[in-house]
Amino acid sequence: MTLSELYVGCRTYRRFTQERIPDDVLRACLENARISSTGANAQTLRFICVRSPEMTAKMQPLVKWAAALPPEIGTPKPGEQPTAFIVIVKKAGSGAFADVDVGIAAHAIVTTAWESGVGSCMMGAINRPGIAALLGVDEADTVHLAIALGYPAHKSTIVPVPESGLLKYYVDEKRDYYVPKKTFDELVKIV
Ligand SMILES: Cc1cc2nc3c(=O)[nH]c(=O)nc-3n(C[C@H](O)[C@H](O)[C@H](O)COP(=O)(O)O)c2cc1C
Repeated sequence: MTLSELYVGCRTYRRFTQERIPDDVLRACLENARISSTGANAQTLRFICVRSPEMTAKMQPLVKWAAALPPEIGTPKPGEQPTAFIVIVKKAGSGAFADVDVGIAAHAIVTTAWESGVGSCMMGAINRPGIAALLGVDEADTVHLAIALGYPAHKSTIVPVPESGLLKYYVDEKRDYYVPKKTFDELVKIV
């Protein structure tokens, strides 16, 4: 897989097979997040890997899926749910760049997972106090992002933005996803 193929394929996935993710794949995701760049090399993020079936089951009600779709379409049912999560925590007193650091680390996690065929969904619509309590996160620290992981059980395809200009992703009758992306010329200026 070339890097460009990885970027095209590494979309958001919201339904998964129930095949377990090998420990070495999760370890590689965490390792690449660990060594990712951070502003001033501050390394104020912490990564919690939720992989036991019991703890993974307890995470499911604490995340909210697919705001653009009705829940019966966008929320994975039992048997379709992610088989692991990685939660990114920002330590108290993190500096101004920490939010950028979260994005960089999250991207390292999802691309490393996809290299092994593991799909993901970065999740910001999460029950932060609930996740903090479940995972024993220090009260002073902030649960920032959860990343759901699993082997995809659907396809996701980039499509042009429709005439209407609507950027909402949508699904077909098989619940495969289509994700409108603006054109190169709309987003890029080369001088
Ligand atoms: C910071 C961030 C937070 C997100 N939060 C959620 C979320 O809480 N629930 C969800 O289902 N998808 C979430 N997504 C997934 C986006 O909806 C998805 O990235 C977007 O629709 C584009 O699809 P693509 O990732 O396949 O390009 C999030 C993505 C990002 C980058």
